[in-house]
Amino acid sequence: MASKLIAPSILAADFANLQRDIEMINNSDADWFHIDIMDGVFVPNISFGMPVLRDIAKHATKTIDVHLMIIDPDRYIKTFADLGSNILTVHYEACTHLHRTLQAIKDEGMKAGVAINPHTSVNALEDIIHDIDLVCVMSVNPGFGGQSFIENTYKKVEKLREMIDSNGSNTLIEVDGGVTDKNAKIFIDKGADVLVAGSHVFKSENPTKTIKRLKEIVGM
Ligand code: DX5
Ligand code: ZN
Repeated sequence: MASKLIAPSILAADFANLQRDIEMINNSDADWFHIDIMDGVFVPNISFGMPVLRDIAKHATKTIDVHLMIIDPDRYIKTFADLGSNILTVHYEACTHLHRTLQAIKDEGMKAGVAINPHTSVNALEDIIHDIDLVCVMSVNPGFGGQSFIENTYKKVEKLREMIDSNGSNTLIEVDGGVTDKNAKIFIDKGADVLVAGSHVFKSENPTKTIKRLKEIVGM
């Protein structure tokens, strides 16, 4: 079985010590950088934008997984490719022509992800699953770090695993929001491949150790 991945979310980092936190991830057992971009319209919060991502990409030595919580993401696909994104995830709820958007992301040389809000059924992805490299299952309402996860996400991950396997697709399942050492193993057992963890990592006493522990829990 392919190894399971941990993606610390930069949203919970110390922005006055960003380079330190990036180096911490570079030197840790983490697999990806998870970057949350919020526009204050699709979600009721604004995180950070292009200049910050550009500087993160300068220092990061691991895959950059960008989660766009913005309306009409098509406007910025090329920009995010140029900034160094490796995976670009758009929200199902923010795309009128999702198929076209995914093709545009791939045309720019990135992997294409689709995030679904807690209220969106995984069934909505059935006819497009073959075109998706990664499904980001939101286990909280997007917009803020530090929330507790919604229990129903377990069922959604399970259903999605079944759908992906029965379609013979190799789409990755990512879980985003409220991931801790208490639920990480359960998400993996339900079929997740990638776990995003923000507060649990950065608000811990020793983030490097916390990442190591998460990797051990999910099986290196
Ligand atoms: C929420 C973001 C998440 C968030 C996760 O809108 O998409 O990636 O940073 O943070 P925690 O792990 O603190 O829930
Ligand atoms: Zn995210």
